Amino acid sequence: MKIGMLTSGGDCQGLNSALRGVAKTLYNEFGKDVTLYGIRDGYRGLIEGDYHPMKPEEFSDILTLGGTILGTSRQPFKMMQKADENEETKLQKMLETCKKARFDCLVILGGNGTHKTANLLSEHGVNVVTLPKTIDNDLWGTDLTFGFESAVNIATSVIDSIHSTAFSHSRVFIVETMGHKAGWLTLYAGIASGADVIVIPEIPYSAKAIARAIEKRAESGKRFSILAVAEGAISQQEAKMSKKEFKEARKNMPYPSISYRLADELKELTGQEIRVTIPGHYQRGGAPCPADRLLTTRLGVAAANFIRDGKFGNMVAIRDNQIVPVPLPEVAGKLKTVPPDGDIVQAARDLGLSMGD
Ligand code: F6P
Repeated sequence: MKIGMLTSGGDCQGLNSALRGVAKTLYNEFGKDVTLYGIRDGYRGLIEGDYHPMKPEEFSDILTLGGTILGTSRQPFKMMQKADENEETKLQKMLETCKKARFDCLVILGGNGTHKTANLLSEHGVNVVTLPKTIDNDLWGTDLTFGFESAVNIATSVIDSIHSTAFSHSRVFIVETMGHKAGWLTLYAGIASGADVIVIPEIPYSAKAIARAIEKRAESGKRFSILAVAEGAISQQEAKMSKKEFKEARKNMPYPSISYRLADELKELTGQEIRVTIPGHYQRGGAPCPADRLLTTRLGVAAANFIRDGKFGNMVAIRDNQIVPVPLPEVAGKLKTVPPDGDIVQAARDLGLSMGD
């Protein structure tokens, strides 16, 4: 049996431990009857036929290793539902590689964009099993994606550290967290670190409401305020714009990120200096936390069992702490965002935190 494996999209913690879970389980089950091929840099390697057989030793000692031993690249397609000629050629090349290499199955680790392409390959007859990867936790069909818990740990520890300097200087801080268009990372890290204001894309913010929250804290004798702000945060004004107007407004925004714009707005409204801290890609780096090591091992083992049982065309998901298959068409192209009326947002509000609205 020949299995091709690739990791695609932004990297995160747990990619290697997931690969290890798949590989060790397949070697245990099939011994010398299975050969694993590493496809370099995600779909780029599949398009260009850049793959190589791997040895079992290559999957040892990588449980805690950050990044991906296979390399990764961003989605090489605009979006293949609207495949233009160029994209059609890329798809053909990927199908040719699968045929030429005689892969019995592809194991694909990735997030949203990756799943759209994985679904397309599956629709074209390739046996595919996928694993849900992203620090954004925004993949439809699974309660959790791997990388998320590790990123929450890092973002939380950044906000924890900001507390002491914010307190000492009686300052207002914005900590901008990743998460793309979803607020999971910001919400979880914000609550876990005791932030005072949490701003997520799903709940458009009002600078005036945030300024009031800061002033209220100051009036009650609190020396500092910490705002956890998602990189994808949008204002209430922006929420009313059409897609085109929003794009244009953001293109002309004279700030490197939303946090700096918000900092200026708040400075104007409160008269206070606002500091901005952006941990950025630091949130995606380093070793997976224990929860991600466990999750990726469970998902990786299950992916190998799916292959053994011929359960192709599925993402290995976790729901209610059970491993389940989710058909790729159900996952492809759908975002899982934070429900604004859900219990976690409500818990933050009940605690007296401001959600910026
Ligand atoms: O999808 C993961 C993610 O880290 C997002 O949170 C972020 O918006 C994006 O990737 C950053 O992308 P890049 O690594 O291409 O700068």
